Amino acid sequence: MEILKNYPLKQHNTFGLSAFAKEFVAVHSVDELTEVLRETAGKELFILGGGSNMLLTKDIDALVIHVDIKGKTITNNANGTADVMAMAGENWHEFVLYCIDNNLGGLENLSLIPGNVGTTPIQNIGAYGTEIKDTFVSCEAMEITTQQLRTFTKEECEFAYRESIFKGELKGKYIITSVTFRLTTENHKINTSYGDIAAELTKNGIVVPTIKDVSNAVTAIRRSKLPDPKELGNSGSFFKNPIITSEEFEKAFLQHPQMPHYTVSDTEVKVPAGWLIEQAGFKGSRFGDAGVHAKQALVLVNYGNATGQELLDLSRKIQSTVKEKFGISIEAEVNII
Ligand code: EPU
Repeated sequence: MEILKNYPLKQHNTFGLSAFAKEFVAVHSVDELTEVLRETAGKELFILGGGSNMLLTKDIDALVIHVDIKGKTITNNANGTADVMAMAGENWHEFVLYCIDNNLGGLENLSLIPGNVGTTPIQNIGAYGTEIKDTFVSCEAMEITTQQLRTFTKEECEFAYRESIFKGELKGKYIITSVTFRLTTENHKINTSYGDIAAELTKNGIVVPTIKDVSNAVTAIRRSKLPDPKELGNSGSFFKNPIITSEEFEKAFLQHPQMPHYTVSDTEVKVPAGWLIEQAGFKGSRFGDAGVHAKQALVLVNYGNATGQELLDLSRKIQSTVKEKFGISIEAEVNII
């Protein structure tokens, strides 16, 4: 375990942005993590997982700890379920495929999401009608100041749409080391109700889909809409879909009656930010090497040599244009560093 100085982060962020860490260390076990935290007590820290949800606008003037702890275990329960524990550094999509190969159902709708297991609870990742909170049992996390491990139950994580306690009250206080999911070993609950999944399955002549079929369908849909970070730097959805009050919605809807929307509660409505951005004229637009993906307006892309600041400027321009046109504020989903 070596602390490296002035370390390049280009390979560690899916936007492919050039930035440097003042210091960098990769930890491969919980013991190594304890050791680093003990030895560097008091230092400014930055915790890095898969780097798939951040926009680096500057160098990181801190010790970057890259959590690269691997391992998975399956514990079968008696009632047709199994508890699967994965260490934080496992790649998310590889973990989803591992579960499917072991006939464990529940994560298939979350196929091909970039990033690592340990960061999935932080923003309660979700796609195609599923969020990790649906199968989440608990996670283990180390308190930075004391190096004590603590188990967080689902309730304690306070999950909400792209939110958890780790983004709120406990931000910067804990490092997630492992996550446990409860998955089905039989009678899998196949969920094809969202978006294009059913159409994709029908196209392939599949009538009774398996979890593998659903995973393949989600993978195909994501590949058709979302750019592969290996080919085109991006961080998935750059913005959250705004949840607005029914009054705000009525006002906007009166002027834009084609606005798609989903009821969240009696008093709240969710509007797809991708639609707002597209209507504001940004879909497929490009400013130097910073752009808005042509197939999904929610995704900002780096065509090669964009800087984090250029992408941030573009995101602000989008936010103010959407606000002006629709009176709706959209918030970044990615962490701006
Ligand atoms: N839309 C447009 N133009 C666009 C994009 C979207 O008009 O360019 C409208 C359409 O009306 C479409 C609706 O937005 O019906 C919803 O689009 P889609 O189903 O593609 O989903 P999304 O709301 O754009 C969310 C997640 C994605 C996730 C998909 C599928 C957020 C912020 N994003 O996107 O998550 O894959 O649903 O479930 O909630 C991510 O977080 O990185 C991510 C990719």
